[in-house]
Amino acid sequence: MHTPIHHYEILPSTNAEAKKMILNGAREGILLAEHQTAGRGRLGRSFFSENGIFMSVIIAPEKIPFDTGFLTSAVAAAVCRAITEKGFDVGIKWVNDIYLDGKKICGILAEAVSMGAETLAYVVGIGINVGESDFPEEIRDIAATLLLNEKEKEKLFFSVLENIEKVLAENKKTILSYLKEKSIVLGKDIRFFGVKDGEGRAIDLDENGGLVVLTDANEKIILTGGEISVRVR
Ligand code: BTN
Repeated sequence: MHTPIHHYEILPSTNAEAKKMILNGAREGILLAEHQTAGRGRLGRSFFSENGIFMSVIIAPEKIPFDTGFLTSAVAAAVCRAITEKGFDVGIKWVNDIYLDGKKICGILAEAVSMGAETLAYVVGIGINVGESDFPEEIRDIAATLLLNEKEKEKLFFSVLENIEKVLAENKKTILSYLKEKSIVLGKDIRFFGVKDGEGRAIDLDENGGLVVLTDANEKIILTGGEISVRVR
């Protein structure tokens, strides 16, 4: 990617900064922060950002070859590939998390920046925990980190960028089959909440990356948002 890279020691949030840049006219750009003081996650949550790769990529709408609802999934595939290539056996928890050994090591937050009815650009924020982190009590059991040195961390950052570039030029079917192969929820009993609430079994991904669920009431539904958790019986 030949877009400018802005490197910060510390920022409240690379996504928030990228949004400001878009409103000031930017239509491409990469932001990388060593630390964030107000990292944000999906559904209004905060994202603990002590040690890791905290980055945002600004993407102009015309650079996205598929339905933009598929952007988070496509980037999850890109990040999963980059981390897998480093030798970690990671998987994707629908729709935006990367897990290692049952714990979250990375989250992805894609946001549109609009002015009136016009979408100016998209921001894809990626947070990968790298190095020792003193996770707060409430996420200590569910968060993990990749142990990489500075050189490897830098390599992973560039590999994520390359893989994002790749998925933006790739056949959607290829991305979907990779997402299915790397999913850690397909075939599992899940709880879903947010947009729809209930329980069922995750059975497939539809052509837009939606999660196809056979509910406990035997109804087939497609989740396009909200949150899921895998049920432990
Ligand atoms: C999630 O887990 O729900 C998504 C987390 C996304 C975190 C990244 S870190 C870089 C970028 N800046 C933010 O404030 N959030 C994203």
